[in-house]
Amino acid sequence: MCGIVGYLGYQNPKDIIVSGLKKLEYRGYDSAGVAILDQGKTKRIRAQGKLKELEDKLQGETFDGHLGIGHTRWATHGKPSERNAHPHQVRGINLVHNGIIENYLEIREELLTEGAVITSDTDSELVAHLIANEIEVTQDLFKAVERTLSKLRGAFSILVMWENQPDHLVAFKDGPPLVVGLGKNEMFVASDVQALIQYTKRFVYLEDREIAYIKGTEVSFFSANGFPIHKKEVELNWNPEMVEKQGFAHYMLKEVYEQPRAVASAIEPHINPDTFSVSLKNIGFGGQSVQKLEELNTAEDWLKTQEVFKKIERVFIVACGTSFYAGTIGKYLIEQLARVPVEVDIASEFRYRKPVVPPNTLVVTISQSGETADTLAAIRLAKELGATTLSICNVRNSTIDREAQGHLYMNSGPEIGVASTKAFTSTLAVINCLSIAIARTREVMSIETEKELVTALLAVPSQMEGVLAFDKYFEEAAAGLKLFRGFLYMGRGISYPIAMEGALKLKELAYMHAEGYAAGEMKHGPLALIDERMAIVMVAPTDQWYDKTISNLEEARARGGKIISIGTGENEKLRSISEYYLAMPKTHWTVSAIISVIPLQLMSYHLACSLGYDVDQPRNLAKSVTVE
Ligand code: AGP
Repeated sequence: MCGIVGYLGYQNPKDIIVSGLKKLEYRGYDSAGVAILDQGKTKRIRAQGKLKELEDKLQGETFDGHLGIGHTRWATHGKPSERNAHPHQVRGINLVHNGIIENYLEIREELLTEGAVITSDTDSELVAHLIANEIEVTQDLFKAVERTLSKLRGAFSILVMWENQPDHLVAFKDGPPLVVGLGKNEMFVASDVQALIQYTKRFVYLEDREIAYIKGTEVSFFSANGFPIHKKEVELNWNPEMVEKQGFAHYMLKEVYEQPRAVASAIEPHINPDTFSVSLKNIGFGGQSVQKLEELNTAEDWLKTQEVFKKIERVFIVACGTSFYAGTIGKYLIEQLARVPVEVDIASEFRYRKPVVPPNTLVVTISQSGETADTLAAIRLAKELGATTLSICNVRNSTIDREAQGHLYMNSGPEIGVASTKAFTSTLAVINCLSIAIARTREVMSIETEKELVTALLAVPSQMEGVLAFDKYFEEAAAGLKLFRGFLYMGRGISYPIAMEGALKLKELAYMHAEGYAAGEMKHGPLALIDERMAIVMVAPTDQWYDKTISNLEEARARGGKIISIGTGENEKLRSISEYYLAMPKTHWTVSAIISVIPLQLMSYHLACSLGYDVDQPRNLAKSVTVE
């Protein structure tokens, strides 16, 4: 999705904006541009393609001014090209935009009738025209933006500057995220704190339909209809190194290797290592704002959480993509451990299928970014339907996090690679804690079982480290995969969602066709696909589903399929029937998915690298999907 950066201060805007845009590259984009004041006039420079193209154009350019905005565009209206790249410039107004203006056709018609010269195919440029029209009346940027907002429909965020007011910058959010960074005698705006963390740790997050009006070194906040509002400042404890590659070839690889630490941080708040018990920490069902969670009385908060868990009669888990697969594993865990019925839904389906949400339903949303448009819509719908909502997010203070009633965190640290890895495994660890907590609260799990499961969970980080040490075997296996026509990833039980996740990783990174299937479904269709050009990736840990999985594997092999299997320890059977057998440590079934996904992540990574693909920013994909 598009990335926005803006700067007003005493430093050189060019460097700050370009470095900010680089930090937002993970969001996915196909063109980029900046507009920076230079001796009272705006210089606008745009380029199709990667930021490198923009940087080449900016080389040697100097700007005598202290105000600028920049943008990375992920095409929605109009193909990726320089003329469609932002900022859009209309009579001294420069505007960058993220999201979609739904009534753009009507606006375009109107503007054309008035004689406007429209130079791009975007909905964004139209907003710049509307503001430029208003400014002729108001002669003030803030007022012009405010008057324009009532004419726009959709989910969008904008950042606008006007060369006649060189110390003003106006931002508006109604959908995609925007945050104001508070510096010392300087102000920043960006789509994500990652763009600004090297300059400031003090932020104000805009909520929907809020305006930030920066004037010199001050910022004030208003509702969309111009009423002043008070906003809370948040201080982040991130350091800039957390968003660097730290010697790894790619962010994705770094994030895969960070998984043991990420899983440990995910469970740490909720587990008592002395008693091997779980009590969820500072969830906030009592109605506290996200910023105040740390200040809660942990024991009182846990009692409130338990009250919710005692009452629930049904759980829905709603998410997209990899987060949805984590949710599918959640269904196995919560149903089997806590005996509460669970439905798992893809957020874009949930929001439109008129779901029946009975009383006493807990809706759990999972989102790494906390900004995914469909998941956000799902949580809003769930609240409307009277459900209690609990979000599992990685980005604290993100929109979904703020709107949920209860809050759990992945604690993975920033995930930059578009392909989600550490957020997925951390989520599985959090869901383990959640399932145990519900089960114990409802008294359907003994203390002994809780101890056994917590022991298994605590062992995971070091087991993951052990698996990562075998990366060279995963690389070797990946090298043998290039020639296959297609891939069928399969598993049973808790390994079925892992098969789907493995197939998604291969699709998004190596651009190869892969399907994730429940192994028991093979006979009902996919078996017809199998021949010697088809690779079967079977996730077959030694668990309650193992024997059945082996039968499916034999059937696939009998049709000529080439097997890559992932199993537990030294397994002669699997080794003898597989081209590649990848041995995982012995674990409890509840945590095996956290381990068995690692070889799948790394095989896709190595395959994509060997094919020369951009693993951190796969084509056509965005990290944060803020439009539906
Ligand atoms: C994962 O590799 C994908 N890039 C994608 O499926 C992602 O998980 C999905 O878009 C959901 O994102 P979220 O967790 O930020 O909501």
